Amino acid sequence: MDGRPIGVFDSGLGGLTVVRALLDLLPDEHLVYFGDTGRFPYGPKPREEVLKYAFEITELLMGHDVKLIVVGCNSAAAAALTELRARYEVPLTGVIEPGLRAAAAATRTGRVGVIGTVGTIASGAYQRAAALWPGIELTCAACPGFVEFVEAGDVDSDQVFVLAERLLAPVRAAGVDTLVLGCTHYPLLARTIGDVMGRDVVLVSSGEETAFEVAAVLDAVGARRRPPGGSGVAPGDPGVSPGEADARRTFLTSGDPATFRTLGSHFLGPEVDAVEAWRWS
Ligand code: DGL
Repeated sequence: MDGRPIGVFDSGLGGLTVVRALLDLLPDEHLVYFGDTGRFPYGPKPREEVLKYAFEITELLMGHDVKLIVVGCNSAAAAALTELRARYEVPLTGVIEPGLRAAAAATRTGRVGVIGTVGTIASGAYQRAAALWPGIELTCAACPGFVEFVEAGDVDSDQVFVLAERLLAPVRAAGVDTLVLGCTHYPLLARTIGDVMGRDVVLVSSGEETAFEVAAVLDAVGARRRPPGGSGVAPGDPGVSPGEADARRTFLTSGDPATFRTLGSHFLGPEVDAVEAWRWS
C-alpha cells in the first residue's frame, strides 16, 4: 500500500488520453500531471533537447514524491525512456511497448501501421520494439501538423481531414488492418483518422494498455492506493490518512493555465478543474 501519487507527463495535452485510462482503471490513485505546453511541440525537436526536457520534468515530478512515472508522450519515451530508467529507481512506464502489445493482439493479418511525430518515427523506437512480436510487419509514417491542430482545439475540421488524407496515404497503401496511434495526442483525432482509414482498420491507442501495465507494476510491489474503509485496507494501514478518501488530481502546465483548463476539461472531462502554472527558470 503506497498513498503517493502517480506522475504523468507529456509535451502538452496529449498525455491526458493516458490519464483518462488511468483514472478509469485506477480511480483511487492520486495523480500529478505535467503538460509542457510552454515548450511544445517535442516532435520536431532534436533528440538531445527532448532528452533534457524529460530529465527536467522527471526531477519536477520526483519533487512531488511520485511512486511511479508514466512518460505519456511517445516523442519523450522514444528519446529518453532508456536513459531515465538508468538514472532513476522509481518505476518508469512508457507508451510504445503497450501500444504495440495492443496492436499485436488486435491484428488479423500482421500488417500493422504506426503513426507518430517526426521525432518518434525517425528514432526507430517502434521499429526496435516491434522485434518482440516477430509476426508483425510494420509500416511507419510521421504525421507532422496533427498535434498542432489538437493543441489549438481543432480535431475534426476540413483542414484536419485533408491533412489526414495526405499523411495517412502510406499506411493505407500498405493495407494495414491495425493502426497504432503512436502519439498520445492522436486519440483526440480518432474520428478523423478513423474516417480516412475506413471501418475495417482497428485504431489502437496506448492509453488502456499503459494503464494495465501501471496497475501490474503497482500490484507487483503491493503499491496500489486503497482508500480508507475500502477493501484490502488493514486497520491502522499507514499509507492513507483519514480524509484522503478522494483521489487528488493535480495538473501543472508550463503554458497558459486557462487554455489548458478549457481544452483539458473538454478532452479529458471534469477532472481538469484547476490548473497550476509552472515557470521554467
Ligand atoms: N504527445 C506527444 C507524443 O506522444 C507529441 C507531441 C509533440 O510533438 O509535442 O509524441
